Amino acid sequence: MRLQNKVAIVTGAGSGIGRAAALRLAKEGASVVVADLHPRNTADLIVKDGGAAVATVTDVSDEDAVRAMVATALERFGRLDVLHNNAAALGRETYGRDLDLENLDLEVWDRTLSVSLRGAMLGCKHAAPHLGEGASIINTTSVSALLGDTDHFAYGSAKGALITFTKYVATLYGERGIRCNAIAPGLVLTDVAVRVMTPERLAEKAAERVLPWAARPEDVADLVAFLASDESRCITGQTIVIDSGTTAHRPEHALRRHRA
Ligand SMILES: NC(=O)c1ccc[n+]([C@@H]2O[C@H](COP(=O)([O-])OP(=O)(O)OC[C@H]3O[C@@H](n4cnc5c(N)ncnc54)[C@H](O)[C@@H]3O)[C@@H](O)[C@H]2O)c1
Repeated sequence: MRLQNKVAIVTGAGSGIGRAAALRLAKEGASVVVADLHPRNTADLIVKDGGAAVATVTDVSDEDAVRAMVATALERFGRLDVLHNNAAALGRETYGRDLDLENLDLEVWDRTLSVSLRGAMLGCKHAAPHLGEGASIINTTSVSALLGDTDHFAYGSAKGALITFTKYVATLYGERGIRCNAIAPGLVLTDVAVRVMTPERLAEKAAERVLPWAARPEDVADLVAFLASDESRCITGQTIVIDSGTTAHRPEHALRRHRA
C-alpha cells in the first residue's frame, strides 16, 4: 500500500472522479476526508471496506467551510498529506448555462470560477501550513483548459487558470518538499456523463480519441494515486492529460474518423 499512514482530503468526492479517487486512496492505505456539498455514501463505502474515512459537508468556495474541512482532517486523523482539489460546479444552473458568451450570466461566470478556482486556492491556502515534506496537491482541471471552444467559456477559463495556479503552488512550496500537479481528463464515463450524453454525442467523442476506450473514473483515480504517492516524487508543477489521445493529434484526424 503506497499511502499507508497518510491522510488525504478529496473535494467533490460524493460522486464521479472524486468518489473513485477517494476509494482508491483509501485502498492504498490513506485515511480520507470526503468533502462535498453532497458527500453521499462515499465515506461509508470506504469504512465498510475496512478503510478510514469521514464525510464533511463542504462548499469549497466558502473560506470558513474550507478551514473547517482541513480542521476535520487534523482532528480526526492527526495530519494531512494529500489534497485533491476536484470539485467543480457542473449542474444545470452553472455548467448547463455556461454557453453563449454574449449572454453569459455573471452569476454563472462567478460561481464557476468560485468553485473550480477559488475552491482550489482556498484548499491550498488552508492545507499548506499543515503539509510536510512528501505532501502532494492534485488539482483536477480538464482538456477544456487546453483547447478553445464556442461554449463553456467560464468552465474553460477557470480550468485554464487552475493550470497556472498549479505551477505557482508548486514553485512556492517546492523548497518544503511539497508537490503540486494538475490532471486534465478528457471525457470520463462517470454515471452523470453516461446519463446525460446522447448516443450521437458519445459517437462524436469516440471519433475524437485515438484509443478505442474512454477513461473510467477508476482510470483517473489510478493517476491521482500515482501523483499522491512517492512514486511521482520528482513530478511537480505539471499538468498530466488523461484523455485517451483526444488532444494527441491534428484536428483532421478526428474529421476523417467521423466521416468514416
Ligand atoms: N467527467 C468528465 O468527463 C470530466 C472531464 C474533465 C474534467 N472533469 C473534472 O473532474 C472533476 C469531477 O467531475 P465529475 O465528472 O466527477 O463530476 P460529478 O458531478 O460527478 O462530481 C462533482 C462533485 O463536486 C461536488 N461539488 C459541486 N460543487 C461543489 C462545491 N461548491 N463544494 C464542494 N463540492 C462541490 C458535487 O456535489 C459532485 O459530487 C471536476 O473538476 C470536473 O471539471 C470531468
